[in-house]
Amino acid sequence: MRDTLRRPPPTRRSWAEPFRIKMVEPVRTTTREQRERAIREAGYNTFLLRSEDVYIDLLTDSGTSAMSDWQWAGMMLGDEAYAGSKNFYHLEEAVRKYYGYRYVVPAHQGRGAEHILSRVLIKPGDVIPGNMYFTTTRLHQELAGGTFVDVIIDEAHDPASEHPFKGNVDLDKLERLIREHGAARIPYLSIAATVNMAGGQPISLANLREVRRLAEHHGIRIILDATRIAENAYFIQQREPGQENRPVAEIVRELCSLSDGATVSAKKDALANIGGFLAVNDEQVYDEARNLVVVYEGLHTYGGMAGRDMEAVARGIAESMEDEHIRARVGQVEYLGNLLADWGVPIVKPIGGHGVFLDARAMLPHIPQTQYPAQALTAALYLDSGVRAMERGAVSAGRRKETGEEYLPKLELVRLAIPRRVYTQAHMDVVAESVYFVHQEREKIRGLRMTYEPRYLRFFQARFEPVE
Ligand code: F0G
Repeated sequence: MRDTLRRPPPTRRSWAEPFRIKMVEPVRTTTREQRERAIREAGYNTFLLRSEDVYIDLLTDSGTSAMSDWQWAGMMLGDEAYAGSKNFYHLEEAVRKYYGYRYVVPAHQGRGAEHILSRVLIKPGDVIPGNMYFTTTRLHQELAGGTFVDVIIDEAHDPASEHPFKGNVDLDKLERLIREHGAARIPYLSIAATVNMAGGQPISLANLREVRRLAEHHGIRIILDATRIAENAYFIQQREPGQENRPVAEIVRELCSLSDGATVSAKKDALANIGGFLAVNDEQVYDEARNLVVVYEGLHTYGGMAGRDMEAVARGIAESMEDEHIRARVGQVEYLGNLLADWGVPIVKPIGGHGVFLDARAMLPHIPQTQYPAQALTAALYLDSGVRAMERGAVSAGRRKETGEEYLPKLELVRLAIPRRVYTQAHMDVVAESVYFVHQEREKIRGLRMTYEPRYLRFFQARFEPVE
């Protein structure tokens, strides 16, 4: 039978890319033998592979997006003055317009902003509640003497739960924590939109409003991780009653208005290859952050970025909030996720904003979590097709600061993060087919033993070998 006859009649699709491609970058396929050598040399850690040995790179959506012609044109207008670059003022203008915060401190990337914020606001012994940890965010909170406590709803830890807002804060957990420690020990609530480690899951507007009410009652600040807030706002538009007719940009503004400041990695939503910033409304916090930024990042009008990078970020922020862009961006992620779900591969539901997360615990029940099933699955996927993913399970979670014990998180995931505006639908098909065949042969995958463990953020540089 001819292929066309087997397909159901078409329905009109809801999205397509709102751009066309005018420059391409060749990618290379490899043989199985080449990949076997490469992954062995990389200690079974996809962070240690050379990018040239990767066919489709879904390691991260961070700094990997394709910039628009308008952003590239802006790169040529870089004002590389040490002080007072005009591009900084464009960035400041964009942050004020799209996020609504008064003061902006640029940083070389998100963790630079997290470092400064943590040093300004956290005192030793403080407790920082948040909707699930993020690796760099929690580490900077700990290095400043604080302890992160997870107050996300239980559904977030269950890959199968279809809750539409798995990034929501559990208000009872939060209230109990405030009662237990007292508001004076809580410098701020650390709220991510969307929640990366939960699978790119959004927080609802209704929930953030409630969190705000509680925080105001106790005089506690809210600091957003607004790194992927446009994706969060898109989910609110799609899922939250009464929000369906609002532009994404307007929802982003409202989310930010419910907070006192934000740290942002401009390498995600904002479509830039490097950059980030801290934005706050409180003048005193701004003053202290401006003092610290010159020590760790650079002058307060560049913070570690070149002028041209600040211009790319300023323009990227504007593009990231366009409804058509974000619909196609999340639509592509959902396309991949739906293929996998239809083929019986266990994934985190609902499908997230920036990637599809495979449930390695469900897929590889024969591998104990102490042998890092998600890490083993990323290696197996690379071996099959040269697709590079990232472990988001026990290796990423690391060790408890007090006891040195390994965290064994409920979520043992492999993330297929989709760079923005980079890959085609055929690439998504190749990825889905590879995951499908790896899933078919999953009993053959063996666990791993860690042979080298770095002290901080171990997932980046750890090395492994297969367990016999
Ligand atoms: N916050 C979130 C939610 C992130 O996802 C990241 C980075 C950061 C902060 C730190 O920003 O990398 O610019 O210093 N996430 C990348 C990822 C690394 O692959 O998810 P950064």
